[in-house]
Amino acid sequence: MLNRFASSISALLDMRANGHSLPAGLYTREDVFEADLDVFFSRHWIYVGLECEVPEPGDAVVIDIGKISVILLRDDDNEIRVVRNVCRHRGSRLLDAGATVVSKLVCPYHQWTYELDGALSYAPHMGKDFDKSCRSLKPVHFRSIGGLIYICLADNPPEDIRNLEEVMRERLAPYDLRNTKVAHQVDVIEDGNWKLTMENNRECYHCSANHPELCVSFVDLDFGFDPESLSAEDREQAEAHFAMYAERTQSWEADGFPSATVERVRDCETNFRTQRLIIAGAGESQTEDATAASSKQLGTMTRKDLGDTHLWGHNSWNHFMGDHAVTSMVIPLSADKTLVRTKWLVHKDAVESVDYDLQKLTHVWIETTNQDSELVARSQAGVSDPAYEPGVYSTFTERALDDFATWYVDRMRAHGY
Ligand code: FES
Ligand SMILES: [Fe+2]
Repeated sequence: MLNRFASSISALLDMRANGHSLPAGLYTREDVFEADLDVFFSRHWIYVGLECEVPEPGDAVVIDIGKISVILLRDDDNEIRVVRNVCRHRGSRLLDAGATVVSKLVCPYHQWTYELDGALSYAPHMGKDFDKSCRSLKPVHFRSIGGLIYICLADNPPEDIRNLEEVMRERLAPYDLRNTKVAHQVDVIEDGNWKLTMENNRECYHCSANHPELCVSFVDLDFGFDPESLSAEDREQAEAHFAMYAERTQSWEADGFPSATVERVRDCETNFRTQRLIIAGAGESQTEDATAASSKQLGTMTRKDLGDTHLWGHNSWNHFMGDHAVTSMVIPLSADKTLVRTKWLVHKDAVESVDYDLQKLTHVWIETTNQDSELVARSQAGVSDPAYEPGVYSTFTERALDDFATWYVDRMRAHGY
């Protein structure tokens, strides 16, 4: 009898049926986890951080992705650099994970010393024939899109990152993210596979039952609904909501704020979706009462009625609002553990307790992130049970999950699996 653990990754991909969640092994197996890291976190563009995290020369942030570690830093010419965190002598890590400030990058092992642009400037006792010029730290391909840093670890990164750049450069400009600061950061380690983390983020079917705080400002119907399953009254309300959307989108765009949906979620390498969403209730921000948390608005955002520019990638989700932004990055740690790193951004000159209240700023997404973490752990436990078989997605509320699972299988295939 064929051992169910013996099937190849390719056979698991074959088993995936359109409109259904993935076969269990794609969520649970270590070999799939390794393949995912290779395909989706080394050979595609991933979101890893922000320019505003390294505002001054010498500021550095180390980000670990599986066995790979990279340093995001600002050099002496005020330019952003991203380099591999591996000494060119015998490979020691230069910096530990997290944020730091350095004048040069000095390897703790034998003190080889690199300038902030990555050039090796000091390597004692290596002899007169030693050529420092070919021992610079290895650079990493990166793009700063409106201040969001995307990297790609491949030699030849996907070229369709330019679609993301073209769409988001204009949309992000009014928020001026380069002149923000991280007011708060939370790391949550979810007990689930990164694809369950992403699937959970791609639908709001679960919102009304699980996210009371988020639902004050977030409209779960935006993710779709079956008119037949709503009462006549609710259906009327939903239809009125969508009519209002069309009108609002048109008026935002007429005022020069791109708002319409742009989706590149299938038949592409760089997966993203953006749309300006209406904020419910008071309409200003994702807070407990939907009013702004910070009195210092971002960039040139002088109006409070410009909703929430949301942006999804395959390892991130973001919400850009008039007064603050929330940005989340996803990094797989093992087949059943995933890091979700969430940052709250405010204007760089905003002062805590004067211009913004930290509790008000962070409450909704701290609660939401914890609630989602529990849901992902429940999913992981269930898909690991032999009783699990791939389930059917709602064509109304889970269309984006079918897009994601289909894109996932296609990209695995394109990389030889
Ligand atoms: S390993 Fe870095 S100086 Fe030797
Ligand atoms: Fe959620």
